[in-house]
Amino acid sequence: MNVIYLVSGANLHRLGQRNPVHYGTLTYASLVQTLTLYAKEKGYELEAFQSNHEGALIDFLCSAYDRGGVGIVFNPGAFTHYAYSLHDTVEMKTIPIVEVHLSDISRREPWRAHSVLAPVVDAQFIGEGIISYQKAIDYLISLLKNPSR
Ligand code: DQA
Repeated sequence: MNVIYLVSGANLHRLGQRNPVHYGTLTYASLVQTLTLYAKEKGYELEAFQSNHEGALIDFLCSAYDRGGVGIVFNPGAFTHYAYSLHDTVEMKTIPIVEVHLSDISRREPWRAHSVLAPVVDAQFIGEGIISYQKAIDYLISLLKNPSR
């Protein structure tokens, strides 16, 4: 399947209304629209899912594993820092998963610096706003072309 999943966790539906210093001014709808076009230009479909509920994210990730695809671009929001159930779901992935963050979580409050997902994702792109996401899409496509990477 030619699909890349964009999975967003807690509070990311409020982009555009959150602190612009950390998250910029782009709304969630504009983020999805821009990334949909970005993926389309490269020949891939983007399917977006956002939830504020850990269990719903687990269900969506598992359904993506079952359906297959190029991979998953995952910004879990604050779940990043403590959601061990998401760690376990990512650990059993059957397609690549790249963790992304708009802000540089390593340079903010100390509790944000730790990602419980970091040990089990394929790559991480952080701190570059929407460019973090574009780099994640490019990385997933590069894995298809060079699976040993
Ligand atoms: C975030 C960083 C998280 O610490 C925060 O809770 C978010 C957004 C980011 O994209 O920078 O909701 O994941």
